[in-house]
Amino acid sequence: MVDTRHEYAGLESLYLPIAIGVFAAVALLTALALLRGRRRARRDEIGSQRKEHNPLEIGYAAVLVLVIAFLVYETFSTEDKTDAVAKSPGLEVKVTAGQWDWRFSYPAYGITVQQSPTSKAVLTLPTGTEVHFTGTSNDVIHSFFVPGTRFKRDLFPGKNSSFDLLWAKAGRYRGLCAEYCGLLHSHMDFVVDALPPDRFRAWAEAHRP
Ligand code: CUA
Repeated sequence: MVDTRHEYAGLESLYLPIAIGVFAAVALLTALALLRGRRRARRDEIGSQRKEHNPLEIGYAAVLVLVIAFLVYETFSTEDKTDAVAKSPGLEVKVTAGQWDWRFSYPAYGITVQQSPTSKAVLTLPTGTEVHFTGTSNDVIHSFFVPGTRFKRDLFPGKNSSFDLLWAKAGRYRGLCAEYCGLLHSHMDFVVDALPPDRFRAWAEAHRP
């Protein structure tokens, strides 16, 4: 089963150590420079007059370019993997974002869910089932974000974004729009309600038009 989130978790475990390494190197070099500067100041010495050190600078630049190239490659190949729409069976859900609400439709059941004046839009899903999402926007860029599952994907007007997700555990999760999209951006919340498959089927039958 494909679950997009794991791909990103792998990417995070790549970025994090590199970020920590770079931070440690910068902190260490800064501390060393400060200590040396102080010692010199105490001895009334003038600092190094050397202006350039080409081999060293080229070395830095080369290392940086290599690290960036590596991360860009890994990021894009992860994107490719998550964009490849899975052929495996599962539930299809279309997500349409608009100023300022969400519409979730289930083509297999003919169901469309929207927010009402009194309640948020609820995205009801079965657990343990691959859910194939196709998302788009009616107007500006919005972002489908479920913090509890660490998943976020931008939705663009006139363009479809595809992603697969899988909820292992039943429960209610908070969803929101993570891209500033105008006046009521902060009201663009929704709820993910992950139900055991039999309860999901009952829900779908009850809501079939
Ligand atoms: Cu839609 Cu912010």
